[in-house]
Amino acid sequence: MATALVILAAGKGTRMKSDLPKVLHPLAGVPILAHAMQAGAALAPERTVIIAGHGAEQVEKAAHAIDPDLSVALQTEQLGTAHAVAQAAPALGGFSGDVFVLYGDTPFIGADTLRRMAEARARHDVVVLGFEAADPGRYGRLVMAGEQLERILEFKDATDAEKAITLCNSGVVCADAETLFSLIDAVDCDNAAGEYYLTDIVGLAQARGLSATAVSCDEAETLGINSRADLAAAEAAFQARARTAALDGGVTLSAPETVHFALDTVLGPDTVVEPYVVFGAGVTVEGGAQIRAFSHLEGCRVAAGAVVGPYARLRPGADLDQGARVGNFVEIKNARLGVGAKVNHLSYVGDADVGAGSNIGAGTITCNYDGVMKHRTEIGENVFVGSSTMLVAPVRLGDGSMTGSGSVITENVPDGALAIGRARQVTKPGLAMKLFDMLKLKARK
Ligand code: UD1
Ligand code: CA
Repeated sequence: MATALVILAAGKGTRMKSDLPKVLHPLAGVPILAHAMQAGAALAPERTVIIAGHGAEQVEKAAHAIDPDLSVALQTEQLGTAHAVAQAAPALGGFSGDVFVLYGDTPFIGADTLRRMAEARARHDVVVLGFEAADPGRYGRLVMAGEQLERILEFKDATDAEKAITLCNSGVVCADAETLFSLIDAVDCDNAAGEYYLTDIVGLAQARGLSATAVSCDEAETLGINSRADLAAAEAAFQARARTAALDGGVTLSAPETVHFALDTVLGPDTVVEPYVVFGAGVTVEGGAQIRAFSHLEGCRVAAGAVVGPYARLRPGADLDQGARVGNFVEIKNARLGVGAKVNHLSYVGDADVGAGSNIGAGTITCNYDGVMKHRTEIGENVFVGSSTMLVAPVRLGDGSMTGSGSVITENVPDGALAIGRARQVTKPGLAMKLFDMLKLKARK
């Protein structure tokens, strides 16, 4: 069955007190919105439509950065969740199959849960995701009759007796596209909030003789983010699960509570992660690598047997081959380090290619930026770059070449050559002693 996702993200998020649209606040290194998209990816959706309203331009840009193929539909006025879903109709023109409605601010819906909903869809026309709430608060209540979901009652419209129901609506809904849009057409705004409720499609389906049911999930999956406190709680919940998953996956974490993961962090078995390491988005560490204390990694790959840190920074595009070493106070950006290449101390390597077995001396800098454009530095295999070499890109050091320490290298160095680019040393015998005497005399006056 073909599947489409509609993700609601038009709401203002007033309680965040932010200029940034709520769904773009970072959670586990990526926008909150990316979490719902990742859960939905388990359904291999043919199309994804994000409903944007407040901050639509920013939401559209961020959503396309995550997935260039998705559509963004505008909901200019937030007239309710049914009205929001209706805005997806043009983008879903010609689509036939099941539509799953998710909320952009509800990040933890599980992939398995969505699969269970898809299974239930084989037997029912409308499937709603519910949960047993410890405190049902203001959630919509699910009114069941056996396996049938009779209707959903919004809190504002419920009687005290109805409010006693503890089975609540998560907001996630699935139905065939044609059925869904036809039901939404029939939704009115005759209720306490004066909104077009998506939840009304259940009662309407029953009135048409269609079948509706609820699938239940753990309450933790339905956690919605409305405030900064919710965001902090969601981050803590995510990190706790990510640490457990890493440990279960064969990763050593000597102080798990100090290591931060992103949504898409991949750590191979036998990776060792020391305390206080932060993984930003897009990191893959292959098995057996070592990430030492106080390192920060983002958008990079670390191959098996490589050692990173302590105090290292790998920025987007850093690509470390097997056994490469990046030591303390070293920054690597958009650069590949070949097998066994070493950058052990106090260096910046950006927009560069470092061949296998090369050694970059302490304090070396690739001068990659001329104030307008970025340029590449090519370092061949088994090169020895002397300490504190400035490599003014674009520049190439041939295989087996060498630079004298303190050099400013502005021209290509052929294979096997030694390049020295610095002022020749001048030594004046006895002059230091004379200078000291002069200075001491001056100080006494
Ligand atoms: C909704 C459900 C309620 C459920 C609860 C779960 C309805 C009518 N009610 O209530 O049964 O228990 O979620 O959290 O659906 N949105 C838009 N455009 C709109 C309105 C909302 O995009 O016009 C988006 C919001 O940004 C948000 C989501 O839809 O991500 C839910 O909207 P919200 O107003 O928070 O719904 P609730 O009243 O909490
Ligand atoms: Ca809500």
